[in-house]
Formats: sequence, C-alpha cells, structure tokens
Amino acid sequence: MAEIIVPEAISGPALDALKAEFDVLCDPSLWQDESALVLALVNAKAVIVRNQTRLSGELIREASQLKVIARAGAGLDNIDTAAAAEKNIVVTYAPRENSLAVAELALGFLLNLARDIPAAHADTQSGNWNRGQFVGSELSGKTLGLVGLGRIGQMVAKRANAFDMSLIAYDKFLPEDIPVIKELGVRLLEFDEVLQQADYVSCHVPLQEETYHLFSKYQFSQMKQGACFLNTSRGEVVDETALCDALISGHLRGAAVDVRETEPPEPGGLAALNNVIVTPHIGAFSQEAQLRVVETVCNDVRAVLLGKQPKSVFSRNS
Ligand code: MLT
Repeated sequence: MAEIIVPEAISGPALDALKAEFDVLCDPSLWQDESALVLALVNAKAVIVRNQTRLSGELIREASQLKVIARAGAGLDNIDTAAAAEKNIVVTYAPRENSLAVAELALGFLLNLARDIPAAHADTQSGNWNRGQFVGSELSGKTLGLVGLGRIGQMVAKRANAFDMSLIAYDKFLPEDIPVIKELGVRLLEFDEVLQQADYVSCHVPLQEETYHLFSKYQFSQMKQGACFLNTSRGEVVDETALCDALISGHLRGAAVDVRETEPPEPGGLAALNNVIVTPHIGAFSQEAQLRVVETVCNDVRAVLLGKQPKSVFSRNS
C-alpha cells in the first residue's frame, strides 16, 4: 500500500524526488473511480490532487491514516477543508504559483476576442484569404471590467494597462484605499456598474457558495450590447445556459471560457457556438507554473511526512 497517492496527472522533477524517498502511487485516472480511490486512501498518509478529485468529507473521514492533502493549484473547492480540519489533516496548496499563467491566458483571450483570431486562422487554414471578413477592433480605449481583483485580477490589470485600456473592477473584499488600486489605475465600482460599463468583463473570483452562478441571466442582461465575457476562474461561477442564450441572441458579441460547469463538458452547448473560444481548463498549464506548483506541493508533503513545518498551508481562518 502506497504512502502517497496521486490520483490525477501530476508530474515533474519534484514528484520524481518524492518517489525516490517514499512509496508513491501515481494513477492519473484514479480520480474517476471513487471506490478504487477510497481503497487506495485507506492506508495513505498523503494525497496530491488537482481540481478533478473530489475529496468529500466522507472520503476524508474514511482515510484514517491521512496526514496531508496537497492541492496542486490554488482553488480548494474540490476539498472538504472543514472535514480535513476536524481530522487534523494539513491542507497544503499552491496559491500563487500559477497566477501568472492564468492572467496571461486571460490576456490571450482578450486579443483573440478583439481580432477574432481563431476564426481568421480556421478560415485561412481552410484555403481562404478573406481579409475583409476579419475586421476586428482595438483594445486601446476599451473598458475592461474585472470581477475579482485578487492576485490574478491585479496581474491582468497590470498587463491590460500596456494596451491602454480603461480599468474598472468589482471586488467585495478589497478595501478601496489600498495602494495597489491607485497604482493600477483601477476604479472600484459596484458589480452592476462594472457589468453596465465594460466592453470586456473578465471573471476572477474563486468558487464559493456565494459565487455559484454569480453570472446568470440578469447579469448578462446588464452587460453592454456587443460586450464580451471571459472566464478563467471556475465554470460553476457561470450559468452556462444563460451565457449561451446571451451569445445566441447576439446581446454578447463573444465569450472566451477556459472552465466549464461540468468538466469535461458534454459535447455541444457553448463549444458549438461560433462566437465562443473554448479551452480545456488550461489556465494554470504553463511549463513554468507547473514546475512551481508541483515543487511547492511536493516539498510541503515531504515536510509533513518528515514531521517538519510545511510552507503553504491553508487555514480556514485566513
Ligand atoms: C487552480 O485552481 O489552481 C487551477 O484551476 C488549476 C487546476 O485546478 O489545476
């Protein structure tokens, strides 16, 4: 029975180093088979997951030897952290390590939406040379509305400044007087005001009870006619049916989404619309980010198993 279970696709030099020291079971499809996962976790001391493995309270309570749950990423919405705390299981994660990769993907989405690059590429690749069909618009002078101005939202704002965009944001938790708001030149507004004024609305909130379907029929109806919507946070923050409707009616000009309500999604839906760019939850997947993420969580798993202090511990009070 392995001491460390890795039920998703996670790799890298830091994991190899862990394998040299501990008995590690890596099975990238184990997250899909709940009963096999329960069995694997019975005697395990550590489990390293991404966002696909659901570590429910029930599963955590059955894993009686578990000392540490490591989340190779930032979001903890797939882990019952209360159940882990009850059992004194340390939860470690990588809250900063992939932020830049996600922010850069959002910037890529902005440029692709403004100039319709995916459609122009597909059309040209099929043998056409339709220059007049692909007259886009410039980002300069347009308003970017950031919903959530935490680490990733701020990184997006900093880079959008280089494109001379006007920046507005809504963040329930950010005090207006913190210096970074001024430095970035962002105007903090109410949620509805951001929706009503932005040409592009980019979502950067974590999935929590209060952010489930934060973007639904009403919110899309508040957005400007012809605006675009971007989501690189969590799929469940958006009511996908409402987003589809806003895109089909033409109220929204376009959308770019990296995350879906169900992953992997059923075929069709958003992905079948030609004013949507879809990617398979790759925001965090840059080579550099993954090296940082895997190193951080593997070092912390090693620390806990050797009785040392881990560095990136999630605390329910923080
Ligand atoms: C994260 O929460 O860090 C990202 O969504 C990446 C992931 O889940 O692997």
